[in-house]
Amino acid sequence: MISRPPGIEDIFPDRIGRRNRVLGAAREVFRLYNFREIVIPVMEFTDVFVRGLGTETDIVTKEMFTFEDRGGRSLTLRPEGTASVVRAYVENGEYNRLSACKLFYAGPMFRAERPQKGRLRQFNQFGAEFFGSGDPYYDHEVIAMMDDIARRSGIAGFTLLINSIGCPECRPSFITELKRYYAGKADILCKDCAGRLDRNPLRLLDCKQESCQPLKKNAPRITDFLCEGCRAHHAAVKGYLAAAGIAYTEDHLLVRGLDYYTRTTFEFVTDRLGGQNAFAAGGRYDNLVAEFGGKPTPAVGFAAGVERMELLLEGADLPDAGIDVFIAHTGGPALERAAALCRALREAGFSADLDPETKGFKAQFKKADREGAALALVIGGDEVAAGTCTVKDLKSGGQETVPAASVIDHVRGRLKR
Ligand code: HAM
Repeated sequence: MISRPPGIEDIFPDRIGRRNRVLGAAREVFRLYNFREIVIPVMEFTDVFVRGLGTETDIVTKEMFTFEDRGGRSLTLRPEGTASVVRAYVENGEYNRLSACKLFYAGPMFRAERPQKGRLRQFNQFGAEFFGSGDPYYDHEVIAMMDDIARRSGIAGFTLLINSIGCPECRPSFITELKRYYAGKADILCKDCAGRLDRNPLRLLDCKQESCQPLKKNAPRITDFLCEGCRAHHAAVKGYLAAAGIAYTEDHLLVRGLDYYTRTTFEFVTDRLGGQNAFAAGGRYDNLVAEFGGKPTPAVGFAAGVERMELLLEGADLPDAGIDVFIAHTGGPALERAAALCRALREAGFSADLDPETKGFKAQFKKADREGAALALVIGGDEVAAGTCTVKDLKSGGQETVPAASVIDHVRGRLKR
């Protein structure tokens, strides 16, 4: 037997109820907020992600699935959506001429991480990106959108963390201070952080290693170093959130693992996912469009992990929707009538099924039950002879015989459609 690669899942129908709940809520909320769908490629030239996410990020240094195409060009399976959406936006002359552009996407992403609960190598995200304004209103709008999606999905008991990581004007003075603070402490840092000190010092604040926690606690706070513009922006985002009744917790350690962020960063976290506590995250990235060669365009967005949201719905009563009708028969002419009736029901908009192999009624009712059917229609010798059909309500157990010509109307009445 050939098995799946590690960290890559098969998703069977028993999970589809929860999955559709999450994705259905996302699509509905995106519609309400006037976001339109973009379908981005599953693979890009590697440079899209190297340039987009930053050469020193964990994703680029160790988590990308990269390979050469037949022409020797380096391609990478997308580890996230933002860089691709920006690349597409810059490349498409029609959309990047719009004064504002609201896009959403959904689909699989690929990261070669060590698999564990809630951490996969192929996982699914939905996300939204807004282009065209640096107004803090939009930071709050994308956060509100994710908050609405979580609630509509039935997820409760989560926390919204927010921070500002400043802009290229004010961040350097913070980085200088951060380096000064960590200078001479390299020997007590974990191996990864010792390397980050020179290459990407902001990420020191993001380290999950136990040994680095005490140092992080007393580290300088980025919010104390914000320039006037960033400070006002941060205050305005918080003002909008408070006015909208969206509770948040400020977390000055929330620097995020991608290099494109400016100003606002945020995460939706819970303590019910073990080590992987974030189920959605995002922030502002005002310089990325220009870095991809587009005209400078401020932007803000987020992405959510579908499988992590699914885990948060585990135990929720979301039965896989059963079929409307199962037809039991006695074979021969009864099966022919059953087959014709099954097709007519489907044409009338009812989900219907039967088993062409002739078994006893008991076995067929058992199957109807397994399929979650609301009604069973019975066609045996008597029904064929009389031109009727027996309708059995599988929930209440009651049954009734009706003329064949009026079965569809009868089913419609029973199922109230
Ligand atoms: P991210 O924090 O890397 O941000 O990923 C967003 C979400 O994707 C995470 O909160 C998590 O739910 C899910 N996720 C990430 N990695 C995995 C994994 N290995 N297994 C399962 N789920 C995972 C981004 O991707 C940014 N593009 C978000 C963004 C959009 N920022 C601005 N616009």
